[in-house]
Amino acid sequence: MITVNNVVLTYELYHDQTRSLKEAAINFFHKRQYTEKKASHFNALDQISFEVKENERLGIVGGNGAGKSTLLKVISGILKPTQGSIKVNGTIQPLIEISAGFNPEFSGKENIYLNGYMLGFTKEQITSKEKEIIEFTELKDFINVPVKYYSSGMAVRLAFAIATSIEPEVLLFDEMLSAGDAHFNAKAQIRMNELVNKSKGMVVVSHDLSMIKKLCNRALWLERGKIKMEGTPEAVTQAYETAVKNPTGK
Ligand SMILES: Nc1ncnc2c1ncn2[C@@H]1O[C@H](COP(=O)(O)OP(=O)(O)O)[C@@H](O)[C@H]1O
Ligand SMILES: [Mg+2]
Repeated sequence: MITVNNVVLTYELYHDQTRSLKEAAINFFHKRQYTEKKASHFNALDQISFEVKENERLGIVGGNGAGKSTLLKVISGILKPTQGSIKVNGTIQPLIEISAGFNPEFSGKENIYLNGYMLGFTKEQITSKEKEIIEFTELKDFINVPVKYYSSGMAVRLAFAIATSIEPEVLLFDEMLSAGDAHFNAKAQIRMNELVNKSKGMVVVSHDLSMIKKLCNRALWLERGKIKMEGTPEAVTQAYETAVKNPTGK
């Protein structure tokens, strides 16, 4: 379903060249603009290759900044790899960067339509899903309030309900289930399981190792943009957990 071939993703970081206040003052008096900026490059993903075959459910673990979210963005096409290639067979829908697609000035309901159009649905298709989405969010009258007044938990509920109302063949999840309350998380878990059963492939990023073991049948450990280990969810989560608990390896 997914082929990732030698993928490198380079972010460019810009540093101010000015080293001191004095230098800044001199630049100012010489009316020099702050244009002298130096770019440094940083590979968030470094020669990554793997496959997700039909009916494989891949869990990705790794510390903060390992490149997990970047990898999902590259797979979903949000980011273009600097090098290498990605092939996806089937429709794909990322559940990442929740609420990134919201317009804060619009109500929850208007955002359902906005997101639906962005995902390529017709007005009729969205209307047919609208009631079910609103019910799932439990936002009640808040659905007519601009999203800028939502708590982060409310925004997560809306984003999750919208994203899971479509049934893509390949699922991508990035740390989705951690922001709601216990009641919503339980409900979201059931919905996730339904989606997983219908999908032909899945990639899920999570800090919740027990969830990786429950949902996935393969796992991958990313560290500093490289694959550190690949294998069964049991083996990979155990190795990762051991490393996290004992960072010096002694
Ligand atoms: N837009 C960006 N520009 C520059 N660096 C970025 C950008 N997004 C992420 N990074 C960096 O890339 C690395 C990987 O980030 P990310 O994929 O978000 O890691 P993870 O999801 O595993 O925590 C981190 O060091 C992060 O700071
Ligand atoms: Mg991340």
